[in-house]
Amino acid sequence: MNLLHIIVVTIIFTTFANRAFSVDRSFERCEPQTCGHGPNISYPFWLSGNQDSFCGYPSFKITCNGRFPVLSISGDEYIVKEIFYSNHSFVLANAAWVYDEKCPIPLHNFSLERTPFKYSSNHVNFSFFYGCPEEPSEYMLPYPIDCASNTSHHSFAIFHMEVVERMNYSLDSCQSSVHLPFDDAVNVDALMQMNYTEILKMGFILNWTAQNCSNCQRSGGRCGFDNNEFVCFCSDRPHVKTCDDDNPWNWKRKVIVGVCTAAATVAIMCIIFFVYQRRNRKPYDPSSFVTRSILSSTYSMDDDMEKGSTYLGVHIFSYKELEEATNYFDSAKELGDGGFGTVYHGNVHDGRAVAVKRPYENNWKRVEQFMNEIEILARLRHQNLVLLYGCTSRHSRELLLVYEYIPNGNLAEHLHGGRAKPGALPWLTRINIAIETASALSYLHASDIIHRDVKTTNILLDNNFGVKVADFGLSRPFPMNVTHISTAPQGTPGYVDPEYNQCYQLTSKSDVYSFGVVLIELISSMPAVDITRHRHEINLSTMAINKIKNHTLHELVDPYLGFESDSTTQKMIIAVAELAFRCLQTDKDVRPSMVEVLNELKQIQSYDLNIQKAKEIDISADDNVPLKSDPLPPSPDSVALSWTSASTSPKGSGKLFRSPP
Ligand SMILES: *[C@@H]1O[C@H](CO)[C@@H](O)[C@H](O)[C@H]1NC(C)=O
Ligand SMILES: *[C@@H]1O[C@H](CO)[C@@H](O)[C@H](O)[C@H]1NC(C)=O
Ligand SMILES: *[C@@H]1O[C@H](CO)[C@@H](O)[C@H](O)[C@H]1NC(C)=O
Ligand SMILES: *[C@@H]1O[C@H](CO)[C@@H](O)[C@H](O)[C@H]1NC(C)=O
Ligand SMILES: *[C@@H]1O[C@H](CO)[C@@H](O)[C@H](O)[C@H]1NC(C)=O
Ligand SMILES: *[C@@H]1O[C@H](CO)[C@@H](O)[C@H](O)[C@H]1NC(C)=O
Ligand SMILES: *[C@@H]1O[C@H](CO)[C@@H](O)[C@H](O)[C@H]1NC(C)=O
Ligand SMILES: *[C@@H]1O[C@H](CO)[C@@H](O)[C@H](O)[C@H]1NC(C)=O
Ligand SMILES: *[C@@H]1O[C@H](CO)[C@@H](O)[C@H](O)[C@H]1NC(C)=O
Repeated sequence: MNLLHIIVVTIIFTTFANRAFSVDRSFERCEPQTCGHGPNISYPFWLSGNQDSFCGYPSFKITCNGRFPVLSISGDEYIVKEIFYSNHSFVLANAAWVYDEKCPIPLHNFSLERTPFKYSSNHVNFSFFYGCPEEPSEYMLPYPIDCASNTSHHSFAIFHMEVVERMNYSLDSCQSSVHLPFDDAVNVDALMQMNYTEILKMGFILNWTAQNCSNCQRSGGRCGFDNNEFVCFCSDRPHVKTCDDDNPWNWKRKVIVGVCTAAATVAIMCIIFFVYQRRNRKPYDPSSFVTRSILSSTYSMDDDMEKGSTYLGVHIFSYKELEEATNYFDSAKELGDGGFGTVYHGNVHDGRAVAVKRPYENNWKRVEQFMNEIEILARLRHQNLVLLYGCTSRHSRELLLVYEYIPNGNLAEHLHGGRAKPGALPWLTRINIAIETASALSYLHASDIIHRDVKTTNILLDNNFGVKVADFGLSRPFPMNVTHISTAPQGTPGYVDPEYNQCYQLTSKSDVYSFGVVLIELISSMPAVDITRHRHEINLSTMAINKIKNHTLHELVDPYLGFESDSTTQKMIIAVAELAFRCLQTDKDVRPSMVEVLNELKQIQSYDLNIQKAKEIDISADDNVPLKSDPLPPSPDSVALSWTSASTSPKGSGKLFRSPP
């Protein structure tokens, strides 16, 4: 072996060693990093301090704040919770709760101006109001911020600004406000259980536009942005697009890829030909494996497209999921007939029990009503209104609506239907049902919505006899300045406002009339219409007015309610009858508003509480003294008297009736 050999071998070896072991520094500096917690950070983001600025774009700069990666946008810091490099999207959450654990409040409005980011789904505003002189109404569904409130200054966050305007609440008098975005696709049910900090922590999703890095990455490189140009840093040196863009192996790879593509194309053509032959022989043979797998792949594609999307703020369910949930609309799963559709019971994939409403076929007017119902329900949140979980998409085979399932049937069933048992629904439960229904209706009216079909079959009950008012299919929002809408008569016989039937004029007082019928049903346990009754008593409302007029209210009252035996109950029933009577006035101007009805019912309910209290005091004062007798209840005559005066001078509505003691 001579010197020449050694020199040649050394030169070859060092060249190789250089190629193999020296690594481009830029490539090293752009290695993905984390802040300990949170996602791996790499192009188009870069972690200040751990990576160089050429590893990503200037506005994608992330810094570590303790354990959290944060991005600064419009004056506030936002935590980067997740990054989805595959679809160019990421989740941000306002960092207020990291900086101030005791009282986290966001300080600046969120704005995407001057950022390369976009909202990647429908969003709503989660709005914070600080230092408001007026306490927020319950109907605004506020999330109170107790730590920033005192007796004279109230702070809270809300989702629905449009409700605030209708509630006549002045947000202008608040000291300051901040608006943050929030993804509209989140389950409303879960949201209502949370407090504002938890909602802040959930964050929202954004997406970005940047050169796609996947080709560079696949070739073993790391992307960057240097001298205003996209680069692919590789172990040897920076490349333009991918690490093997000038590699001699490239053409060989291309040949291999080309051959494979050709082979795959031939194979696919063979399969298509094969399927085509099979189908021609046996047109709709479902047992054909290939046909079936193609069918199911189209299905699952549909599912993916439908999943997670929202329409007007409601979740979109796939048709297939609902079909399976209702066992292909099995009649055994039928809950009832909702006037314009059949309602089925089922369980969706996440385990929730639901009621699926399916419209009658090919009735486009009805479908419009359903869309109307969706739009209305999506805006409304009240504990005594049935919650709309979602619906199928417009592109789906049929429009289906998905509601929360209320397990205990409807009020009509409990009063005079299949679930009715003598004495099973005591008076105090009934008055509570009346109050909760009135509360839901006054909320609707405060939101400018007339229910239009108030009746006992639309008052659903949960296992504790809590009320959920259902079926807004006939509702229409009406503008504030219009006092009535002219439409063709709708609604259910026995409940329809007589004035509406004559003039086709609809107001919130029509709901008050129908609610009057519901009150009479609660008192009497009789159905609103019964053709087996006497000709003049087919309509319960006519019958009730006649009985009251003839001083025979006791004939109307359900004998199991204790009208004769319990003086408190008697007093309450008479007061409710008086109230129902005012609701049933032909002249709508004489009827009380739903809010007045609600307040009066609450007052009537408190008779019982007051008497309980009075008894307790009596007992503790002197055990030996017999209970003081209750003040004399008003006789049924007082109702009849009121009626006579009301019918002679109907304008003086409120004062004609004795207010409860
Ligand atoms: C970050 O990347 C490493 C290695 O590539 C991986 O093991 C780890 O699971 C990733 N972490 C996250 C949060 O994605
Ligand atoms: C990036 O490119 C790859 C392959 O070219 C593609 O599969 C991927 O969908 C692209 N990603 C985005 C977010 O466009
Ligand atoms: C990107 O993908 C993730 C899950 O892989 C998903 O949660 C996210 O919603 C997607 N982003 C967009 C904009 O679709
Ligand atoms: C946020 O925006 C609202 C209206 O867009 C404005 O009234 C309010 O003052 C802004 N808040 C801050 C802190 O700038
Ligand atoms: C971001 O998401 C929105 C809504 O999904 C979409 O219209 C937009 O094209 C997306 N932008 C990018 C850059 O992916
Ligand atoms: C959220 O509030 C801002 C005012 O800060 C307003 O410009 C924007 O339109 C609102 N967005 C939605 C979805 O209501
Ligand atoms: C309530 O808080 C405000 C600031 O939010 C403050 O100006 C005011 O003095 C406080 N009032 C009372 C009674 O503490
Ligand atoms: C709203 O406020 C205005 C002015 O304070 C008042 O005139 C009006 O009656 C209020 N409307 C309702 C529905 O309370
Ligand atoms: C919000 O709820 C969480 C968990 O239920 C609790 O830890 C936290 O203290 C609550 N925050 C406020 C401000 O009530």
